[in-house]
Amino acid sequence: MGWWDWDRWPLLQRRGNHMFVKLFVALLLVGFSFRFFFASDSFSSLPLSQPEEVEDVREVIADSDPLDNDFASNTSVPEVALQDGIEYRQKDKCDLFTGEWVSNPSGPAYTNESCSFIEPPQNCMKNGRPDTGYLYWRWKPYGCDVPLFDAEKFLNVMRNKSWALIGDSILRNHVQSLICLLVKVEVPVEVEHDKQYKSRRWHFALHNFTLSIIWSPFLAKAETFENEDGVSTAEIELHLDVLDKKWTSQYENFDYILISGGQWFLKAAIYWENKTIIGCHNCQRKNLTDIPPDYPFRKVLQSVYRFFTTSKHKPFILYRTWTPDHFENGEWFNGGTCNRTVPYKEGEFLGRDIDHLMLRIELEEFKNATRNGARLKLLDTYRLSLLRPDGHSGPYRTFHPFDKNSVRGPNDCLHWCLPGPIDSWNDLVMDLVLNGN
Ligand SMILES: *[C@@H]1O[C@H](CO)[C@@H](O)[C@H](O)[C@H]1NC(C)=O
Ligand SMILES: *[C@@H]1O[C@H](CO)[C@@H](O)[C@H](O)[C@H]1NC(C)=O
Ligand SMILES: *[C@@H]1O[C@H](CO)[C@@H](O)[C@H](O)[C@H]1NC(C)=O
Ligand SMILES: *[C@@H]1O[C@H](CO)[C@@H](O)[C@H](O)[C@H]1NC(C)=O
Ligand SMILES: *[C@@H]1O[C@H](CO)[C@@H](O)[C@H](O)[C@H]1NC(C)=O
Ligand SMILES: *[C@@H]1O[C@H](CO)[C@@H](O)[C@H](O)[C@H]1NC(C)=O
Ligand SMILES: *[C@@H]1O[C@H](CO)[C@@H](O)[C@H](O)[C@H]1NC(C)=O
Ligand SMILES: *[C@@H]1O[C@H](CO)[C@@H](O)[C@H](O)[C@H]1NC(C)=O
Repeated sequence: MGWWDWDRWPLLQRRGNHMFVKLFVALLLVGFSFRFFFASDSFSSLPLSQPEEVEDVREVIADSDPLDNDFASNTSVPEVALQDGIEYRQKDKCDLFTGEWVSNPSGPAYTNESCSFIEPPQNCMKNGRPDTGYLYWRWKPYGCDVPLFDAEKFLNVMRNKSWALIGDSILRNHVQSLICLLVKVEVPVEVEHDKQYKSRRWHFALHNFTLSIIWSPFLAKAETFENEDGVSTAEIELHLDVLDKKWTSQYENFDYILISGGQWFLKAAIYWENKTIIGCHNCQRKNLTDIPPDYPFRKVLQSVYRFFTTSKHKPFILYRTWTPDHFENGEWFNGGTCNRTVPYKEGEFLGRDIDHLMLRIELEEFKNATRNGARLKLLDTYRLSLLRPDGHSGPYRTFHPFDKNSVRGPNDCLHWCLPGPIDSWNDLVMDLVLNGN
């Protein structure tokens, strides 16, 4: 469990600040296993698993267009730069995922005042973030425009429909943005939630539209061992070939699914395959083979996509790509910051090796799945997110962090302020879903 899993937030708030301090100290003590979460350097020295089908990869390179190669040739990790050559883009259609952030004087679609669904760690305005420049940008793909999210239109099309967003706390960040965009037209009622408010369901009664978030950070079956303060007491046990029933058991209920893997795959874990331990990552049991996290990520994605291609039920599925973080001057555990106030220009920051690696796996497996007939669309938010170091909560995940009596935790340079750049993900979702882009 990392600090950045702010699902703990309601719990911590109830217990007061001293609990947060205790949790933070405890996390520092077990920091050894956590320091790898964001430390890309630790990964670059690891022997990484080979792609399974080398031929596949070559084909991917051959498909790439010149613009992508230009971008690719400027990255520090040429062998993973073929991320950009995946042929998910349809010829003659504008690539929504390549572009730039342009000035947007009209500002965000909602504020901390107009949306009560922003959870405290994302509510940068309320928490006292002084600069507001980060709110005045709009994602502009080269060669076309993404229309802004239209709540009225969206809800009308989604009448009688049911959505599930499946994943981790970044997905929750995304869902909050979606709800905030929708509340202008209709305020939903929460109809169900689990004990820790990790999985939740809302109903928009006027439109008979159901929106669920299903907490499944690995998408696969995982046993986690945590004490009541949310601190791991043993490694996660992750079953690479068994999907998480929490979402597969409900799969048939949904017309639309937005799903993503993510940072949890970087955690210390013991890996199971075919009911046998095959190795582990950063674990204490020294007699196990160390397996770098790209292998489990690929295996789980293969299981997920196999499930999609072989299930009779064919919802509209969006797969959202890897989210980069923007820690600078350190990592999350040793004072890393993200205090920039404007976006990067394309090429100014290229992401870390681990980002490139995990993204490449996603794109390769996505491509393989579409070849196998799944009804899938890619929501490739990686590059537009990469350019927004200014959009994270940073210190403003806590209320007025610089006040005299405030207890500050580490900066959050992974999750996003609301409103903020993540709202643009929903502009893209709307376009992909309604306009068939
Ligand atoms: C990318 O290209 C720019 C301009 O040509 C150059 O200044 C920069 O060092 C390059 N970056 C990398 C990582 O190669
Ligand atoms: C919203 O943020 C502003 C500061 O930008 C603050 O003054 C106000 O109290 C906040 N309101 C709520 C409801 O969070
Ligand atoms: C709401 O939508 C569901 C399908 O998602 C449908 O079965 C049900 O009849 C609808 N209810 C109303 C009141 O329209
Ligand atoms: C929604 O469901 C209700 C009840 O089943 C039905 O009367 C209505 O026509 C449906 N609307 C749409 C847009 O499917
Ligand atoms: C799984 O393990 C069993 C023995 O435990 C073996 O018979 C079987 O072939 C294995 N299956 C795969 C797919 O490796
Ligand atoms: C590894 O060591 C543990 C005890 O630390 C033992 O229970 C387990 O059987 C060992 N596994 C292998 C594969 O040797
Ligand atoms: C951002 O943080 C770094 C490291 O703490 C500091 O050196 C720099 O001055 C800060 N920049 C701004 C604009 O606050
Ligand atoms: C592609 O998908 C097929 C069918 O699920 C699977 O057997 C194969 O291993 C996959 N290949 C790669 C490279 O993932």
